[in-house]
Formats: sequence, structure tokens, C-alpha cells
Amino acid sequence: MSSDRKDDHVRLATEQNRDRHRPNDFDDIRFVHHAIGAADLDTVSLSTRVGSDEWPLPLYINGMTGGSESTAIINRDLGVVARETGVPIATGSMSPVFKDASTSPGFRVIRDENPDGIVLANLSANASVEQALEAVRIMRADGLQIHINSVQEIVMPEGDRAFSHWPENIARIADALDVPVVVKEVGFGMTGATVARLASLGVGVVDVSGRGGTNFAAIENSRRTGSDFSILSEWGQSAVASLLDARDVADDGNVSLLASGGVRTPLDAVRALALGASAVGVAGGFLRILRDDGIDALIAEIIRWTEQIRSITALLGKTTTSELTTSDVVIQGGVRDYCLARDID
Ligand code: FNR
Repeated sequence: MSSDRKDDHVRLATEQNRDRHRPNDFDDIRFVHHAIGAADLDTVSLSTRVGSDEWPLPLYINGMTGGSESTAIINRDLGVVARETGVPIATGSMSPVFKDASTSPGFRVIRDENPDGIVLANLSANASVEQALEAVRIMRADGLQIHINSVQEIVMPEGDRAFSHWPENIARIADALDVPVVVKEVGFGMTGATVARLASLGVGVVDVSGRGGTNFAAIENSRRTGSDFSILSEWGQSAVASLLDARDVADDGNVSLLASGGVRTPLDAVRALALGASAVGVAGGFLRILRDDGIDALIAEIIRWTEQIRSITALLGKTTTSELTTSDVVIQGGVRDYCLARDID
């Protein structure tokens, strides 16, 4: 059942991400052009501080898969892509390893192919401290992503129904690990209050992972054999809205923000960096390229992204990714309405 589920996720997410130019909240963020303000391209450094670590690039392949034969092959390919491009990468949820140890190599292959890169393991907020330590050990991981996915679980007929223990469990894991813990959504976004709560639990890095890209409410609804639950397909907020809400919390210096969910282009990535993200994650869009066009196409695409992130950074007159937060940005449309309604400056 579980490995079928992983294969379903890959297939359905690939289909969802074929429409690459669909509008989302990133369109509401416009940069103001300053005609004589640009910096020299070769002075731009793309390295970025995430928590207490330095990442070589502000772009990463977000947690996706593992646990079946075909997803082990995807993980091998993603490991090669990460090695060839230098981007950090996360595994998909490693919970299958604790039900069937024979699935472990299908995750570890990411590290095997990418021995020197930044690799994050991934588990759910139900994981025990022992499982968290073991996942990090298996991957020789530089950090652990813990996903919080209440919407997805609720729409899944076989999903979890108890969530109130998550904060206490996350605090226990954050306390026990000697690598950074990254708490992430899976495409429904966060509020500033959620990020502040996570920081108070000892979490140093939060990926707001918002709506507008891969949609797990729709994916799980299409897997349901019982009653329709499509009414949650528009649930949640975008990465853009989440960043605007949470950036003041990050300014206090206790927590770094990562952004993912609906990042379609290098311009979207720079928009997220300008709104306070330390780095930007892509999942479904890169999976779609890997599956439709192959490994070389994905390597070329990620190299193009890093070159264009550098170009746009220079165009904005900045020489580091952290300076992008001082860019002149105009917030329009639905995102502006959201900020007004929620009293976000
Ligand atoms: C995911 N995502 C995910 N996240 C996570 O923390 N653990 C997981 O196991 C998975 N599994 C998974 C499978 C597939 C096929 C996809 C496409 C995605 C969620 C992912 O990391 C990200 O938060 C969302 O997909 C939103 O980003 P995109 O896809 O819009 O770039």
C-alpha cells in the first residue's frame, strides 16, 4: 500500500506540474527597476546562511520520495543532479525505512551519489527521537526536515487523525539532534505565529512551503475511493503570503526562513529571497523535468536557474542574497488584500 502511494504521488505530482506557467501569488510581487542601479555580475555571491550553516546556493531540491523500487531510481537521479549542480537536496519521508529496512538503500542512494553535498533527511512530526537519529545516521545528513502535513493527512482516508502532540514531539527531536532541524509544510503555508511557535520549540529553520504549486489536497482527493473531499483544494496560503507574515519573526535572528511551494522560475526564487527567505526549494517542477525530459535536462535547468538568479540579483543592484531583502518591491493584487486583511505591514 505504502509503496503504491509513493508511486501515485510521483505520477500525480508530475501531471500537476506540467502546467508550468499557471498564475500564482508570486505574480503579485513586482520589483521596481532602477535603470542605473545594477551591480557587476562577477561580484555577486550566491552563498547563503541557513540557520548556522552556509549553503553554496540559495536553491535546493525539496523532499520528495523514496520507499519503492521506482522512487529509488528517482532518488539516485536526484542525487546525481544535486552533485552536478551543487544544490542542497532533501530526501522524501523516510518513514518506510522503519516499516521495511530493505527500503533504506533507496534513500541512501542520494548520499551515495552525492557524498560531499548538503543532504537533509526527512521524517514526519510523528517520528520518535530514535528514528530521527537513525534517519540522520543513514543519510549522513546535514540536517533533518520534519514535515507537518495536517491537510494532506485529513484528506487521506488512511491518514493520521491526531495532531496535537506534534509541538511537543518536534521540541524533543530538535533538542536531541546535533544537526539542524528544518520544519516544513508540504504546500499549505504558514503564519508568522506558527513560525514563532516553532522557534520557541527550538527549531532554527522553517520552510513555509505554501500553496500555488504541488497540491496534496488535490492529489490525495484523487486517490480517494470513498467520498469526494475536493473542498480543501484551495486551502492554505502561498509561500509569498507566508513570508510576508513571518519575516518579522525571522528578523529577530532566532529562525531562518526557507520558501517553497509554487516556485516556477528563477524570478520567483529571487522574489522569495527578497521577501526574507534564505533559500528557495523546488519539488514538483524539478520532478516533472526529470521524468519527462531526463537527468541531463534537469541538470541544465538548475544551472540555468542559478545563472539567472545571479543575473537578477545583479540587476537589482545587490551582490549577496541577503541584500536582496532591501530590494524595492511592490505588492499587488490578492497578496496585497491578504496583507491588509491580516494587518501585515
Ligand atoms: C512532496 N513533498 C514532500 N514533503 C515532505 O516533507 N516529505 C515528503 O515525503 C514529500 N513527498 C513529496 C512527494 C512528491 C512527489 C512531491 C512533488 C512533493 C512536498 C514538497 O517537499 C513541497 O513542500 C511541495 O511539493 C511544494 O513544493 P512544489 O512542489 O510546489 O515546488
